[in-house]
Amino acid sequence: MDRTVKRCREVRLHAYPDGMIQPRNLSIVETALPEAGPNDLVVRNRWFRISISTRLMANPDAQAVEGIPFPALKPGDALADGAIGEVVACPTGSGFEIGALVSHPLGWRDYAVVDAGRCMALDRGPIEPAAYLGHGWTAYAALTRGIRVRTGDTVFVSSGAGAIGSMAGQIARRLGASRVIGSTSSQAKADWMTGDLGYDAVILRDRGLIADQLRAAAPEGVDVFVDMVGGEQLAAATQAASEGARFVLLGALTAELNVAGASIVAPVQLDSFQLILKDVTLRGYSADRDHAEAFPDWIAWQRKAGLHFACSKVAGLENAPRALRDACEGRLKGLVMVEL
Ligand SMILES: NC(=O)c1ccc[n+]([C@@H]2O[C@H](COP(=O)([O-])OP(=O)(O)OC[C@H]3O[C@@H](n4cnc5c(N)ncnc54)[C@H](OP(=O)(O)O)[C@@H]3O)[C@@H](O)[C@H]2O)c1
Repeated sequence: MDRTVKRCREVRLHAYPDGMIQPRNLSIVETALPEAGPNDLVVRNRWFRISISTRLMANPDAQAVEGIPFPALKPGDALADGAIGEVVACPTGSGFEIGALVSHPLGWRDYAVVDAGRCMALDRGPIEPAAYLGHGWTAYAALTRGIRVRTGDTVFVSSGAGAIGSMAGQIARRLGASRVIGSTSSQAKADWMTGDLGYDAVILRDRGLIADQLRAAAPEGVDVFVDMVGGEQLAAATQAASEGARFVLLGALTAELNVAGASIVAPVQLDSFQLILKDVTLRGYSADRDHAEAFPDWIAWQRKAGLHFACSKVAGLENAPRALRDACEGRLKGLVMVEL
């Protein structure tokens, strides 16, 4: 084991947020690097992901949920999220090499001591970090395994400029969708979605009824709905569903990013007659829980798909707390990734 790295910096929850999470709720602490056990790698992190789910996990009543790969946090706990780093020390016979890139779940710190069983070796040579850390994987699994997109489908993606949404629209198109509609909060993001992500139409939340906007954008009906938001957007998609429509529910941002306080409870009023009469399928789905074994398929597929990896890059651990706040407030686009 390399003994030269003795100290590291990590971001911890300092105090539970009251409403939206703020940088003052987090602290950056310099601490001793934990002693590496016989099966541990020491990894110098180079990139890590910032997920809005961290806001939910920073609630006093947060609980670990199967299928959500984030620990519930209490003040003093280090944050965690997907990371890619370079191995600086590894046990002999571990199958890993010093200098190799690995992905693992201990971001939000500059060095990680992590069990080899939680690490995945990445390809040699240049990599696209967003392909491994981003939620293109989630969108791909949802659209190829959660439900299936068919040629000619009209697809609606809620939070279409977000980490999952910015990839879901592009992936749906490459899987055969003929019309792709997304939702977002601002005209600037809407222009970016049509210009860079290939959306045909964009719906703006808080600018009139979603149901009216969706009916106008999808006059023939919505065949596939990829839902990150819940609430009014799920209710509107139910109204606009075509015969045999398929909905894949991935998240409920209305609850998770509720300014009054993050919650895992996301009630919505649905017209169940519409679901029955139109033979609509709704599937709640977690890519990591339901089809983790398909991750290598995603890596191979995305290499040929020519996707635009929409990414808001942030430099330095010291800027990560602000980036989490900005991500939750909707100021950023696509995957939010910190480079170290
Ligand atoms: N099932 C799975 O496998 C899986 C995996 C990962 C994550 N998730 C879940 O999927 C959802 C989306 O995750 P993500 O990482 O892609 O997040 P995201 O869409 O990037 O979330 C941030 C965006 O949410 C939007 N937003 C903010 N406040 C909102 C509100 N009150 N109502 C509606 N939208 C709001 C903003 O976008 P605009 O400004 O564009 O509106 C903001 O930029 C989350 O609920 C997450 O927990 C599921």
